[in-house]
Amino acid sequence: MRHLITSALPYINGIKHLGNLVGSMLPADVYARFLRQEGEEVLYICGTDEHGTPAEIAALEEGLDVAEFCTRQYERQAEVYRKFGLSFDYFGRTSSAEHRELTQDFFRSLDEHGFIEEREISQVYSVADERFLPDRYVEGTCPNCGYDRARGDQCENCTKMLNPTDLINPRSAVSGSTDVEVRTSRHLFLRLDKLSGEVREWVDQQTDWPNLTRSIANKWLDEGLQSRGITRDLKWGVPVPKECFEDKVFYVWFDAPIGYVSATKSWGDKVGKDWKSWWYNADDVRYTQFMAKDNLPFHTIMWPATILGTREPWKMADYIKGFNWLNYYGGKFSTSSKRGVFLDQALEIAPPDYWRYMLMASAPESADSAFTWEQFQTKINKELADNFGNFINRILKFTASRFGNELPAGGEPGEAEIELERRCMELVEGLRSHLQSMEFRKATETLNALWSAGNQYIDVRAPWTLFKQDKNEAAVVIRTCINLIRLYAITAAPFIPTTVEQLFNALQLTDDERQSSMTAAADLTILAAGRPFEVPPVLIQKIDDDRVAELKAQYGGD
Ligand code: MF3
Ligand code: ZN
Repeated sequence: MRHLITSALPYINGIKHLGNLVGSMLPADVYARFLRQEGEEVLYICGTDEHGTPAEIAALEEGLDVAEFCTRQYERQAEVYRKFGLSFDYFGRTSSAEHRELTQDFFRSLDEHGFIEEREISQVYSVADERFLPDRYVEGTCPNCGYDRARGDQCENCTKMLNPTDLINPRSAVSGSTDVEVRTSRHLFLRLDKLSGEVREWVDQQTDWPNLTRSIANKWLDEGLQSRGITRDLKWGVPVPKECFEDKVFYVWFDAPIGYVSATKSWGDKVGKDWKSWWYNADDVRYTQFMAKDNLPFHTIMWPATILGTREPWKMADYIKGFNWLNYYGGKFSTSSKRGVFLDQALEIAPPDYWRYMLMASAPESADSAFTWEQFQTKINKELADNFGNFINRILKFTASRFGNELPAGGEPGEAEIELERRCMELVEGLRSHLQSMEFRKATETLNALWSAGNQYIDVRAPWTLFKQDKNEAAVVIRTCINLIRLYAITAAPFIPTTVEQLFNALQLTDDERQSSMTAAADLTILAAGRPFEVPPVLIQKIDDDRVAELKAQYGGD
């Protein structure tokens, strides 16, 4: 089996926050890195989702042409993800030519097979803005509670679901203009109603899906699927290739998932590889998708329905890993209200590996979880700095000062060493199994257990005291510890790749040795006496209380 991995395509309108990272790109990256390390063939694809009204409006606010705006934002996002060590094989864009063509092809197939219908709909049109307004861009007074900033899809104050025409004194959220009217327009609809049985059959076959994914899919199916509009009266988007609809574009949620396919095509064209075998008749591919829970309906229902309706053998997901919300203290992270920590800010606060570790250790897998600065401090100081970094720096420094910069000779592994190795083997198999099943919290807990095993070992064997009594015994302990450091590096590599790279360099490992599988690395005698090493600088810096107070003051908290 080859592994195709995708993360939900981040929307173009701005730099994403920690909540976005933990729910899609980061876990996908950890999984991709793990599988590569296991010797699997992996293709990890992501890209920006660029169409739709929010992009147009964000561009308008910055006084930029929307295409230019998207290019800038694409580059900013790509740069941030590169700094976070996200190892995409390709990071594409839905504004690409490949994407336009594929989207139009998907549509034509759906149309040929009778899954597209025309309907006339009424929509709010803003004369001042010269555009139709999506429901949530119409504001007015709630007929239910009188809140004067209710949106056309829902009242934030009393949570009542609304239609834009329900609002009293409606106005455009873009310009505030009250010169709005209802106009009719013809649009194309996808016959989800006709595809519902097939979607359910497919969902029922996915017996290994996590609960969150399955329950969301079933909820939608049980409520019954209805035709959904897939075109919009906008200029920015994929043009609709059908007579009388040439001046319309596809709705962003129709074309966005096709971005997974089109980005793969862009990758194939760029590196000269066969992209289609990953997507078309791809029975030898295992396809895993990562996303936050708000994206689940689109990936379990709408996108599968689109594929099924083409009557073509496009690859459908084998496994969908959904995440709950990571909240910022009690409330939501929010791009629009600028609440929480954004990825560019995060990189100014701490190195990427600190975030990668911390976020995976608090991943909202079984329930929503909260980000707090206190927890950030605890995870970094107690786990990454004390349990992991300190062990490594202490052992390597001690060895260099007492034995020089080579693994010392002398002694033979005894019972303590054999017991440690047995424990490591057991933990490594646990770690692999958690990573195979994409249970990231459990995986970081297992890493911690591995680090604790090392600390317990040196508490008992105390090489610093042993050195004064029996140099040979101390030498065995040191060799075991340095091999353990190598195991730490190999097992932590999917999580904290930059720090691990530093460690690999300090241990002067060959390329082959760096690519060792986790299982092979659990042998604690691989690095033999005489191997050179260097002492790395302090790997993990602690975050002190003053800094936490400062961050709380700056970003808000409590
Ligand atoms: N842009 C969407 C979001 O940020 C996700 C799109 S996923 C895709 O929620 F598959 F549709 F591309
Ligand atoms: Zn209300």
